[in-house]
Amino acid sequence: MRLLAVSAGLLLGFGAAQETGNHPEWARWCGKAYQPKYSSFDPGGQTVEPPALPGGPALDVQFTPRYSIYLVSDKQAEFVVNAAISKWHGQPWPDLGTPDKAPPVHFTINLVSDDDVLVSNKVAVGSAANVFAFDLTKLTPRLEPYAVVLFGATESGGPNITASSELFVLPEKTTGSVAKLDNLRGGVLFRSAATGGRFEPFLPYGFYASCDSFLCDKDSVRKIRAYRDLGLNSMVSLTTVFNSRAARVSPHAPTIEQELTRGERRPDGQQDPFNLVGKARDAIRKIDPYHPVSVTLNCQNYYFKEYTAGADFIMEDVYPIAINSTFSKWGTPCNATYGDCGCDNCQGNVQDVANRLDDLARYERWLGLWPKTKAHNPQSFHGEDYWFRDPTPAEEVAMNALAFNHGAKAIASWVWPTSDTLAQIHGEFAKVVATTPVRNLIVGGKAQRVEAGGVEVVDAAYWTSGKQVLLSVVNGGYEPIGGEVKIPLPNSIALKTKDAVVWGNGTWTIGYHEVRLGGVAAMSTNMIILGVGKGKCR
Ligand SMILES: *[C@@H]1O[C@H](CO)[C@@H](O)[C@H](O)[C@H]1NC(C)=O
Ligand SMILES: *[C@@H]1O[C@H](CO)[C@@H](O)[C@H](O)[C@H]1NC(C)=O
Ligand SMILES: *[C@@H]1O[C@H](CO)[C@@H](O)[C@H](O)[C@H]1NC(C)=O
Ligand SMILES: *[C@@H]1O[C@H](CO)[C@@H](O)[C@H](O)[C@H]1NC(C)=O
Repeated sequence: MRLLAVSAGLLLGFGAAQETGNHPEWARWCGKAYQPKYSSFDPGGQTVEPPALPGGPALDVQFTPRYSIYLVSDKQAEFVVNAAISKWHGQPWPDLGTPDKAPPVHFTINLVSDDDVLVSNKVAVGSAANVFAFDLTKLTPRLEPYAVVLFGATESGGPNITASSELFVLPEKTTGSVAKLDNLRGGVLFRSAATGGRFEPFLPYGFYASCDSFLCDKDSVRKIRAYRDLGLNSMVSLTTVFNSRAARVSPHAPTIEQELTRGERRPDGQQDPFNLVGKARDAIRKIDPYHPVSVTLNCQNYYFKEYTAGADFIMEDVYPIAINSTFSKWGTPCNATYGDCGCDNCQGNVQDVANRLDDLARYERWLGLWPKTKAHNPQSFHGEDYWFRDPTPAEEVAMNALAFNHGAKAIASWVWPTSDTLAQIHGEFAKVVATTPVRNLIVGGKAQRVEAGGVEVVDAAYWTSGKQVLLSVVNGGYEPIGGEVKIPLPNSIALKTKDAVVWGNGTWTIGYHEVRLGGVAAMSTNMIILGVGKGKCR
């Protein structure tokens, strides 16, 4: 049994001093006034595209350890190095206008403390995801990260490039579990007695678990077993905080809870001090450095950099179903500068989930940050005069599949217990996506979006491993699609066999580099695993 939250989730919604943004003296949500007695104003805190560098594009060298943490038993570790040509960030480099001619970057990666060289190698300009292994046995395990620095130059010397990062080499852990994040592809790897002490891909799929009617009940053991038997493999416990969607902190961090839950409780989307996340992360890390820490962002575009700075991974909680996205229960319009319609700057459709994940990734690119693992917090509830009904099972699956298509690597839904219908559908979907083989493809691969027949509401993505491709096609519209949807795959992928239909009842026709999907129902999700290899498709 593996009912463990991979993370200590913490949500910025605790109504501490509302000191960020504009008009802190007014009640606000996502920085905006939402009561008629206050007027609309610019909430501030937007992340925007930076200006292009005046001297033309630059070389943006970034690197990071492959995994968020290493254990001393790992013996070997890896760095991932990107050498992108960026119009926004970086340092000068010869011949960036004609990248083929640009000299490669010769670099070393060293410990800052003693200049010890860990990696010495080169990368091509314009390349990404270059992986370099190095020996870990020289590094003494410790709880603090090692500061590491990359120095790059052309072979003959020349512009000096520097970049910095942090490397965790932790003491071995003999009890309990360990979860680490793959900084190359975003997935979670998990190790426990249940995995035989080896790291394996893990796709967390579960719920925030309430005290009321669940974890605090006399028969909680039976209820937890029933939860697991549905197919759910993780949960975020809410037992030490009360029944509020604002409060989400892991139970193994009681001191943090006290700090974060002090003060008046207000709805999500409050304007908490920026340093709270960093402080909370540091405190959680002190208690447990073996699991990543997440932050859940309510707001679409409100101080992204500041609020995510302390988090290992980022969750969005887009709850778009059956909202009124233009006029709120408070009696005001909702728009980019005013109002609270329950889902910030949403349109009230399943595409809001995909758009939000795209937004978060875009902010990271604009800010020049290494992309963090993303997680999706699905809406499995209704009420509070924002959400007029539950999502249907079809909407729920579509939103989760859209989240995967747009890079999410974990699902933690709000909130358990939910309706029998939603419990059932989440369990059925989890049984498929959170187990092998789908799990390994999503966790171990990177979602690649692909054009699907030019139909706007149809969203498709694929993940590859050596021998297989997982293809996911979501019709996020409320009408069926007539005829067949054509999905071209890159020429590098030679399709061969239909290995397994994972989800949905569409009809698949497999070409050499193209897939056609017929019978696409309204609001439907179809997933298939295809074999790749040499020779013609059967
Ligand atoms: C690059 O760094 C090296 C070593 O620190 C130094 O000798 C050299 O002058 C620098 N080159 C440039 C172009 O800054
Ligand atoms: C939203 O609420 C306003 C005001 O009650 C109403 O006029 C409008 O039709 C509603 N929109 C939707 C999509 O329900
Ligand atoms: C939002 O609505 C308010 C109230 O109607 C209006 O004053 C404001 O200009 C609107 N903001 C935007 C960006 O449309
Ligand atoms: C296929 O599944 C959809 C739900 O996604 C359902 O509405 C439809 O009736 C099913 N079609 C068949 C032929 O079973």
